[in-house]
Amino acid sequence: MGYEHIEVRPLSGSIGAEIFGVDLLEENMGDAVFAEIHRAFLENLVIFFRDQNMDDDVLARFGRRFGTLAPLPPHRQVPGKYPELLIVETKPEDKMVFGWEWHSDTSHLETPTLGSILYAKVLPPIGGDTMFANQYLAYETLSEGMKALLDGMVSVHANGRILRTLAEGKTPPPGTEAASAGWANMSTEHPVVRTHPDTGRKALYVNEMHTERLKDMTVEESQPLLQFLYNHAVRPEFTCRFKWEVNSVAFWDNRCAMHLALNDYTGHHRLMHRVQVKGTKPFAA
Ligand code: SIN
Repeated sequence: MGYEHIEVRPLSGSIGAEIFGVDLLEENMGDAVFAEIHRAFLENLVIFFRDQNMDDDVLARFGRRFGTLAPLPPHRQVPGKYPELLIVETKPEDKMVFGWEWHSDTSHLETPTLGSILYAKVLPPIGGDTMFANQYLAYETLSEGMKALLDGMVSVHANGRILRTLAEGKTPPPGTEAASAGWANMSTEHPVVRTHPDTGRKALYVNEMHTERLKDMTVEESQPLLQFLYNHAVRPEFTCRFKWEVNSVAFWDNRCAMHLALNDYTGHHRLMHRVQVKGTKPFAA
């Protein structure tokens, strides 16, 4: 089905589309325009807008068209009127960037967010792109045998790897996943293959940033299968890469896409504002 109110230009053969003909600053976006944006979001997994000179009110208003905004934990909130506003900032002296590994946002929570809306305010002269990977395709391209093995399987997601990375200032080396697990203070369980509540399609739902192990297995026992899935999930043909401009906006679907922020602009400043839309508990059907 085509679009009447917006122009949708895919960014790759598998994921991502730029949307044209929309002014997100317009206070009363019509329902017909919104319905097409929502359809483009479901069809493309991540959508992008250019030249939207937004403040936090507009960012929050756009997010609320898709649901309730998810507040951040108190230690991440910034003073101001939005407890849901996440500041994603890399300073010139920083060696690490936020979102440095492939992940789906907040999968270590029992109810992860539906999606995130990221807005670019300050960018490095070059670099700082974001990559996205289609997790429907990641599932659909597995063998029937592997699908049968994974369907019904559950994994444990935790924040150990993040806390360890932040404490040590670098990504834990391969082979030390068990040690990273010891850092976790939050954890939950999710199906390895989840069903998208809106599209009904199945998507692979494990990620190297948050998935600690498979349920009822040790971290070491889980690693070979998880590592295979992490590699498979981000095959180049499942991805797109978005080149930001100041005033660009991205809205991605955490239920069927993973993303990664590229750390290739050391010595430069990058500042983004983000809000998250509340999700529902992942399920397998
Ligand atoms: C993130 O939300 O994981 C960060 C993405 C980015 O800064 O490009």
